[in-house]
Amino acid sequence: MTGTDERRGVALITGGSRGIGAAAAVALAADGWDVGVNYRTRADEAARVVKACADLGRRAIAVQADVLEADQIEHLFDTVTAALGPIGAVINNAGIVSPSGRVAEYDAERLDRVFRINSISAFLVAGAAVRRMSTGYGGTGGVIVNVSSRAAVLGSAGEYVDYAASKAAVDALTIGLANEVANEGVRVLGVRPGLIETDIHEPGRLERIGTTPPLARPGKPEEVAEAIAFLASDRSSYMTGTTLDVSGGR
Ligand SMILES: NC(=O)c1ccc[n+]([C@@H]2O[C@H](COP(=O)([O-])OP(=O)(O)OC[C@H]3O[C@@H](n4cnc5c(N)ncnc54)[C@H](OP(=O)(O)O)[C@@H]3O)[C@@H](O)[C@H]2O)c1
Repeated sequence: MTGTDERRGVALITGGSRGIGAAAAVALAADGWDVGVNYRTRADEAARVVKACADLGRRAIAVQADVLEADQIEHLFDTVTAALGPIGAVINNAGIVSPSGRVAEYDAERLDRVFRINSISAFLVAGAAVRRMSTGYGGTGGVIVNVSSRAAVLGSAGEYVDYAASKAAVDALTIGLANEVANEGVRVLGVRPGLIETDIHEPGRLERIGTTPPLARPGKPEEVAEAIAFLASDRSSYMTGTTLDVSGGR
C-alpha cells in the first residue's frame, strides 16, 4: 500500500494491534491520517502496526489501555491528543466473541464479559470521542466508526447469540448517537464485517464455514479496513447513522 500526500488529521483506533483494527490503522495511514494505535496486551504487535504507519510517512504511536476501564479510555484519548494533536476520527473496534454455546447454557459471568467489552466500552469510547470532537464541547468535529458485526442481524444461533446482541447494541448506538450529534459536526457510522480472517475465531471455525457466504470465501481484514477508511474520510460526507455490511453477501 502506498501513502497519499494529503494530510487528514489524527485517527484513534481501539484494538489496533491485530486483525481488523491493525488493517484499519494502516489503511488510515495510507489515506493520510496520523494514527493512535490502542492495544490491551500485545505491545509487540502494536509496535509493528505503528512502524507500518510510519513507513507510509505518517506519525503514529501505540497506547496501552483496556477499554473496559473509563479512566484508561480517558488516558488513551489524552495521550493520543498530546502526542499527535486533536483527534478527528475514532474507530471503535476493540471487541471479543464468546465461546460457542446455546443461550440456555449462558451464565451471568459470560454475559457480563461480552456486553461489557462489546457494548458498554463501545458507548464509553463513543462518549469520550464526542467530548473531544463535538462543537458542543469546543471541538471542531469528526467521525466515529463503530465496528459491529453481521451477527447483529443474523443472530448467531447455536454459536453466540449474546455476541450478536452485544453488536446489535452497537448498531443502535450508531443510529442514536448520529442523530444526537448531527448538528455538532460529528458523523457516526458503522461497519458490519462478516467472516473475516483474524484470530478472533475459535480454531477450525473459518475452515468450517468460511466458504458459506455468497462470495464463497472469508474476507480479509484489509477489505473491512477499506470501508472504515472510506467512512472516516470526507468521501462519505453525506452519510451518518449508516452501517455498511462488509460480509461477502452473508
Ligand atoms: N473477525 C471477524 O470475523 C469479525 C466479524 C465481525 C465483527 N468483528 C469485530 O471486529 C472487531 C475486531 O475484531 P478482530 O477479528 O480484528 O479481533 P482480533 O483479531 O481478536 O483483535 C482484537 C483486538 O482488540 C483488542 N482488544 C481486545 N480487548 C480489548 C480491551 N479490553 N481493550 C483494548 N483492546 C482490546 C486486542 O488487543 P491485543 O492485541 O492487545 O490483545 C486486538 O487488537 C471486533 O469488534 C469484532 O467483534 C470481527
